[in-house]
Amino acid sequence: AQNRKESLFILMNFAKDHFQHLLWEEEEGKSIGLTYFRERGFTDESIKDFELGYSVEAWDHLLKTAEAKGYKRDLLEEAGLVVTKEGGKVYDRFRARVMFPIHNISGKVVAFGARMLGKDKKQPKYLNSPETELYNKSRVLYGLFQAKQEIRKEDRVYLVEGYTDVISMHQTGIKNVVSSSGTALTADQIKLIKRYTDNVTVIFDGDAAGIRASIRGIDMLLEGGLNVRAVALPDGEDPDSYARSLGATAFSHYIDEESQDIIRFKTKLFLKEASDDPVKRAALIKDIVRTITKIDDPVKRTVYLKECSDLLGISEQALVAEQNKLLIQKS
Ligand code: GTP
Ligand code: MN
Ligand code: MN
Ligand code: MN
Ligand code: MN
Repeated sequence: AQNRKESLFILMNFAKDHFQHLLWEEEEGKSIGLTYFRERGFTDESIKDFELGYSVEAWDHLLKTAEAKGYKRDLLEEAGLVVTKEGGKVYDRFRARVMFPIHNISGKVVAFGARMLGKDKKQPKYLNSPETELYNKSRVLYGLFQAKQEIRKEDRVYLVEGYTDVISMHQTGIKNVVSSSGTALTADQIKLIKRYTDNVTVIFDGDAAGIRASIRGIDMLLEGGLNVRAVALPDGEDPDSYARSLGATAFSHYIDEESQDIIRFKTKLFLKEASDDPVKRAALIKDIVRTITKIDDPVKRTVYLKECSDLLGISEQALVAEQNKLLIQKS
């Protein structure tokens, strides 16, 4: 099995080189893929740092190239690089897409994220490698390999939604940034973060629905014992677009100025949504107390309950009573 794993690593590295070759050296890759990256503002240095690539518009270009090099079909399939259709026809999984290699913590490629270029609404915007012996998506954070030294140095990690957010922020000079690739954070990913820092700042895309959906994941971070801050971007912006439109200095400034403690962030967000309706108010107060209860440290919890009591205009005793109810349920 160890040999098999080693073979998979070698094959994934070959595929990464292949997609890079297509991007930098071949006509289709240069005119479509490289142009796409440059037009969306990525520098050549970023494209190289993140080992971005291009897969051509053909059914079996990678398959043929890999087989000519001696890689076996079943290994290609196990790596998730080719797919076997009904009837036994084998074809490349990634075609006519720009390629984002996903690295493990030591920098080896374990998977790919692949973005479509056209406007074919029937296709997913991003297509990812399936889980393999190398790739367990709940145990990988995109960008961690490129970010880990800086995370340690800054003693903080920025958490963003997507691949391109990581790359643009890195390019802006904020290199301590990772992405969970659009999915909720897992306990394993939090353990990975904790190897490097206890401090996380979550950068939310500027759409209310998105924030509401992803704020649930925050409880996980608190349960993991991390100190969490949060900042929301203006409506319609993600870190990639906003870093590009503001430039490095102003973007960093925005993050520094606007980020706040997660409990305060969540409380204010909820207050905006349910100000007069008493039923909604009660539900949101319970929700916030539930989040506070995820924190292990009783001193921290007390500080938070005091602050929420001020923000929500509700007695500290009432909040403490709700907390105690939840703590009893937990034990
Ligand atoms: P751009 O549109 O290229 O700027 O990418 P984005 O990162 O801004 O995309 P978006 O905000 O829509 O999604 C955030 C992240 O979720 C992406 O970077 C992907 O990791 C993931 N994602 C988005 N769309 C899909 C999809 O169709 N399938 C899968 N598997 N993941 C997706
Ligand atoms: Mn060639
Ligand atoms: Mn989004
Ligand atoms: Mn986005
Ligand atoms: Mn985007």
